[in-house]
Amino acid sequence: MSTRLDADPDRIDAAAGRVMARCDELARVSAASDAIERVYLSPEHARVNRLAAEWMREAGMATRQDAAGNQLGRLDPVGGGRDAPALLIGSHLDTVPDAGRYDGIVGVLMALEVVRLLRVPGEEGEWHSPFAFALEVIAFSDEEGTRFGKALLGSSAVAGVWAEDWWTLTDAEGTTVREAFLDFGLDPGRLGEAARRPAELVGYLEAHIEQGPQLDRRGESLAVVSSIASARRFQLHVEGQARHAGGTPYDMRRDALLGASEAALAIERICRAEHHIIGTVGQLEAFPGAVNIVPGEARLSLDLRGEFDGERDRVWDAISRELDGIMGRRGLRWTSRQVHSAPAVFCAPLLQDVIREGIVATLPAGTQTPATLFSPAGHDGMAIGAIADVGMLFLRNPDGISHHPDEAVSTGDVALGIRALAESVLHLAAEPA
Ligand code: GLV
Ligand code: MN
Ligand code: MN
Repeated sequence: MSTRLDADPDRIDAAAGRVMARCDELARVSAASDAIERVYLSPEHARVNRLAAEWMREAGMATRQDAAGNQLGRLDPVGGGRDAPALLIGSHLDTVPDAGRYDGIVGVLMALEVVRLLRVPGEEGEWHSPFAFALEVIAFSDEEGTRFGKALLGSSAVAGVWAEDWWTLTDAEGTTVREAFLDFGLDPGRLGEAARRPAELVGYLEAHIEQGPQLDRRGESLAVVSSIASARRFQLHVEGQARHAGGTPYDMRRDALLGASEAALAIERICRAEHHIIGTVGQLEAFPGAVNIVPGEARLSLDLRGEFDGERDRVWDAISRELDGIMGRRGLRWTSRQVHSAPAVFCAPLLQDVIREGIVATLPAGTQTPATLFSPAGHDGMAIGAIADVGMLFLRNPDGISHHPDEAVSTGDVALGIRALAESVLHLAAEPA
């Protein structure tokens, strides 16, 4: 089989145009009227799954929604092969609050276009994968963890890794994961059916916007991803004493908000002094939250990432010791609850190679080799890495802005990305089994 894609540029440009138009269409499916917000097991999640399923069927794929709400489409190899192992290609359709329209979404839609470019017709006009393996597009349902704090719920279910205590995680309204499953029409008792066995999978490929400025600074469109950062997320709770804002002298105050604020600054100081360790306090609330009361309680989140699990954990220990000191000096108590933990995932050398070859196929002859980047952003591959080799392709993200409505990607880069990803699949298929 040829390792070069036989598709004329107009066809790829049309595919990229379709991806951009569909990103716009999905952006309109939102819980907010003036922003994009689509969280796990919401009515918007159901609506985008229906749209994605429609597009998958239009591409000739057999579709299903799995037991965790992930949407899948599959093309079997020529000659049947319902049991043939599958190459998964995809990303996620859920979003952060006030999101951009490309994070995750563009990867799902590009996967669909790759399938359209590679598929071959069968005897009765149906479509097939031209390879010994099936092609499956997967739209994961919860990469961000926006609703329940714990990220990667959809891909964790596919990886067959689900902790019992996740069922009782709650959203801001107090709805548990279990209740949300039932409201969505999913049976928590059947969750195990979403799990895939390693033997069923050839690997997992994902295209994603970079969510950082490296490619933009280099003036390049595409990069190979070497690894995805390990992550832990915590909810921190600080307890002091709520008292009168006027009458309480400074030496009697146990101000939980000031303790939390000092903690946030200490987290920045400690993480900045490290290489490839990033700590972010993205949520901070004070209680009872009145203008004339010294805050007696504060809650803050911590998102901690690192290139290596051991380094990340060492820094968490250092942060914990620092927080003990800060809170002790201020007469406060603090506790932490870990709500998410995912190990660093190293992209498989073979999949890095085929993605590199795929990118090279899009470059003028003699151009320098494509960049290889570490991903500080999290991806579904962090969960899927437990059951399959993972390979990722990054697309330039102008100004590196993401998790923001200004998030962007160019149609030209999407076209290059589609070609590179399709070429990568051809290279992979040409590898000895
Ligand atoms: C997801 O985008 C994450 O990195 O948190
Ligand atoms: Mn994201
Ligand atoms: Mn993402």
